[in-house]
Amino acid sequence: MPRPLNNTETALTAANLLPLAQRYAGPFWAYDAAIIQQRIAQLGAFDVVRFAQKACSNIHILRLMRAAGVKVDSVSLGEIERAIAAGYQPGGEDIVFTADVFDQPTLTRIAELKVPVNAGSVDMLHQLGELSPGHAVWLRINPGFGHGHSQKTNTGGENSKHGIWHSDLPLALAAIQQHGLRLVGLHMHIGSGVDYGHLQQVCDAMVDQVVAFGQDLEAISAGGGLSIPYRFDEEAIDTQHYYGLWNDARERIAAHLGHPVKLEIEPGRFLVAESGVLVSQVRAVKEMGSRHFVLVDAGFSDLMRPSMYGSYHHISLLPVDGRALGDATVESVVAGPLCESGDVFTQLEGGKVETRALPVAQVGDYLVFHDTGAYGASMSSNYNSRPLIPEVLFENGAAREIRRAQTIQELLALELI
Ligand code: LLP
Repeated sequence: MPRPLNNTETALTAANLLPLAQRYAGPFWAYDAAIIQQRIAQLGAFDVVRFAQKACSNIHILRLMRAAGVKVDSVSLGEIERAIAAGYQPGGEDIVFTADVFDQPTLTRIAELKVPVNAGSVDMLHQLGELSPGHAVWLRINPGFGHGHSQKTNTGGENSKHGIWHSDLPLALAAIQQHGLRLVGLHMHIGSGVDYGHLQQVCDAMVDQVVAFGQDLEAISAGGGLSIPYRFDEEAIDTQHYYGLWNDARERIAAHLGHPVKLEIEPGRFLVAESGVLVSQVRAVKEMGSRHFVLVDAGFSDLMRPSMYGSYHHISLLPVDGRALGDATVESVVAGPLCESGDVFTQLEGGKVETRALPVAQVGDYLVFHDTGAYGASMSSNYNSRPLIPEVLFENGAAREIRRAQTIQELLALELI
């Protein structure tokens, strides 16, 4: 939920952010550890909370997760190495690798480390089985339907590349038996930013899949996808209700199998989105026909979500001189520095530019993009040869840099060969 910058319930206040903004003289990410800890606590009823680290994979955030008993989902070799660097142990339950394909170096390392695999294709089972018989596996099922906040985040149904198609489960089982793989459980993640109206359908689908599969299981995973209120008028998810429906599915499965079954959940966004902001500086203000543009020093190379999905992030003005902001607003298009027309933070999915009523911004002021802790820094790129920007974590009353800025020399180094 967007929190005004004078809300002292979090560390992300004007008083805390302004000195950092002045010190960095460029955009940066800031996170509040306390918000992450609150979100973890809200999911305490699940047997395992597994953080989908793609949402925010900084090692210091992973350490914080680990200290709170949260396990981790990795989707690449880089993410596995991050988890290990944060203290997670490969080979047990700590890390699960979820993907639809293995690239060769990842497969080799996973076989060495014995990291359990959540397989999204039958080919993965054969490739893993040949190299690592007895390896622990989950099956990620595509139940034939999905939902997401955008078509791009819908991960179920026949237009999605994800998971093993539900009617192919016998093929998956044959691969498991052929290679003596150890089946841990079934997993379903049908999309990101799910519509809770469909939750019962998802839970029922899991029960049906387990029954149809006819194999013994230790665990089921509800995947991630829990949405958060990006706008003031959106409601926060009722985590008790969410748990209740999944727990009911788990109990039906346990009754069918005749023994208890572990229930995992695998959120990314829910745990970190609201903990983070992106702070940028206004570098130009200009009128273009009927439009009022406010241009900042952060672009979609930093925060990709508005350009990629038309995502809404609440924007606050943080005046550089501490002046009081009146009630007057101006309909503004907020855009970045990239040499690309789509580098606009106020746009709808499909690219239609819209405006936001903002207090009058002056060059030198800061604009704060709220709820950017998930899929913010982790989706950044070096487009336009812009270095990655720093990340700062507020924890126990202090701010600490958890990633320094990348330098231009570091960018060029890969090519200076
Ligand atoms: N598990 C699996 C297998 C996933 O593919 C994902 C997200 C998650 C868990 C976590 O989903 P979450 O709880 O964060 O919704 N970049 C997009 C989101 C893409 C999510 C991809 N997979 C965005 O910025 O909204």
